[in-house]
Amino acid sequence: MFPAPLPAYGSPVTHTAPPFSLVIAVDGPAASGKGTIARALARRYGLPHLDTGKLYRATGLAVRLAGQDPQDAAAAAQAAQTLDAALLDDPDLMSSDNAQAASIVSAHPAVRAALLAVQRAFAQQPGGAVLDGRDIGTVIAPAAPAKLFVTASPLVRARRRHAELLKSGDSRDLMTVLADIEARDARDSGRADAPLRQADDAALLDTSDLAIDAAVQRAIALVEQAISPGGQQQV
Ligand code: C5P
Repeated sequence: MFPAPLPAYGSPVTHTAPPFSLVIAVDGPAASGKGTIARALARRYGLPHLDTGKLYRATGLAVRLAGQDPQDAAAAAQAAQTLDAALLDDPDLMSSDNAQAASIVSAHPAVRAALLAVQRAFAQQPGGAVLDGRDIGTVIAPAAPAKLFVTASPLVRARRRHAELLKSGDSRDLMTVLADIEARDARDSGRADAPLRQADDAALLDTSDLAIDAAVQRAIALVEQAISPGGQQQV
């Protein structure tokens, strides 16, 4: 099992932490920009950050490395319950093949149950935290004072992921990347347990037409609104 608390990811803190506990939930589909936005918010507010997708990716990777099938709920649950933190640094963690495995194992309720406590503990640490994923605002931290749902059109997201993959030496074509993203969207949104969806009190941030700097500025503005007195109504 993972040591608790998990280490903070992302770049060094550049802003002092607020004197109260601030939990920021950032959800959204693959390649929406939510990870970059979450890391920027963590720096802005001096908070630790957890990319919860890495937990599901590590579970998928453990299953694959053991030669088991991600569809096998018992094997996936066993992997999630006995996860080795070293897998978080594995070069295959962020690959496209592993993303699909992560998406398959994440639909098993026993996998989600096994990974719940470590995410909740991270969210509840003193001072607060930024977590990004699919179910942070709905399941992991439903009382978070600031919630963002970051999205973009499937084609824009596919173009972003395609460019990232090319840089990492993966030359699959744009249409293949788009099909992978759409398959993952369908699986993540369609599962019965903790599906990808915008929490009722989350602010929507569509990054389709925004450069990353503009998206981050918009995200900060939405968080400021959410945490200002009476702010939830303004978002
Ligand atoms: O965020 P990332 O794309 O790395 O996540 C990989 C997969 O892990 C997602 O496609 C999703 O199936 C799963 N996931 C999840 N819940 C989260 C974070 C990720 O089901 N909170």
